[in-house]
Amino acid sequence: IELREVARGNASAAPALDLTVRPRRNRKAEWARRLVRENVLTTDDLIWPLFLIDGSNKREAISSMPGVERLSVDQAVREAERAMKLTIPCLALFPYTEPSLRDEHGSEATNPDNLVCQAVRAIKKEFPDIGILCDVALDPFTSHGHDGLIADGRILNDETVAVLVRQALVQAEAGCDIIAPSDMMDGRVGAIREGLDHAGLLDVQIMAYAAKYASAFYGPFRDAIGSAKTLTGDKRTYQMDSANTDEALREVELDIAEGADMVMVKPGMPYLDVVRRVKDTFAMPTFAYQVSGEYAMIAAAAGNGWLDGERAMMESLLAFKRAGADGVLTYFAPKAAEKIRAQ
Ligand code: PBG
Repeated sequence: IELREVARGNASAAPALDLTVRPRRNRKAEWARRLVRENVLTTDDLIWPLFLIDGSNKREAISSMPGVERLSVDQAVREAERAMKLTIPCLALFPYTEPSLRDEHGSEATNPDNLVCQAVRAIKKEFPDIGILCDVALDPFTSHGHDGLIADGRILNDETVAVLVRQALVQAEAGCDIIAPSDMMDGRVGAIREGLDHAGLLDVQIMAYAAKYASAFYGPFRDAIGSAKTLTGDKRTYQMDSANTDEALREVELDIAEGADMVMVKPGMPYLDVVRRVKDTFAMPTFAYQVSGEYAMIAAAAGNGWLDGERAMMESLLAFKRAGADGVLTYFAPKAAEKIRAQ
């Protein structure tokens, strides 16, 4: 009946639906939406991963990650300066190791003068107030592309952990603030904590890649560090099965018991349920890694004009906050920070 009145444009007509509750009221204008907004993304939430390459004044495009480059150490220092200006609190460093320096044992990982250590020292010298996170795993340094040592086709756990402790120590001694083991060997967090403490490096934090899944979404990263072509087999005997979430809780619990200061879930967007469960269960500083493949999907679709890249970027990052993450490792960090600061 009243519908007919409305159709006639009679403004005083009673509403067609007898609704007391109308959720759209709180969305009627931008100011009203801001007022009730539950989650916000700030520059404090961002960790910016950088890829390093030997040389100077060098920037190399990574074809599967449009907009991301491998940087020589001097260029990484320039990006650190940019991060400071954008108030991004922390950088994460990943090396492309020259093939001639890769071997079966990943020896270069424990060289105190390797590319990562050089970059840590150079960045810390100019910008002591920016946080630096270093990944601990052997894959950028091994000729076979695995995160650990191999014997008879199997990834050795305890022998690998011994090397990872040495890798963590050279990085921490170079000035790295956060050690981030991404290898998924059993017991590595405890062993690294003990190693750091014995060396007097009590303040060096550990962010454990606690629930790290064997994922197809790491493809572009393996291009970036040059391990895609060399990797033999897959990483399913150490990285987690995508089907599991109870197991993620057990992994996180172990890493916390072994001394992790912060925990991480990886990949990010396809595993937001895991982020939420981890945050609710442990109330620990919880991070998510929006990995290379997630970046590549958004960048590729945006590049083709198939979606609005900036909006997709911001929406995807906010989703991590909504899921309970305290921060995100993301290749979008500088772009997102620029966007946040322009708001
Ligand atoms: C090394 C490591 C990987 C990533 C971070 N650390 C690759 C892998 O486990 O194969 C992936 C990050 C990304 O895809 O952006 N263990």
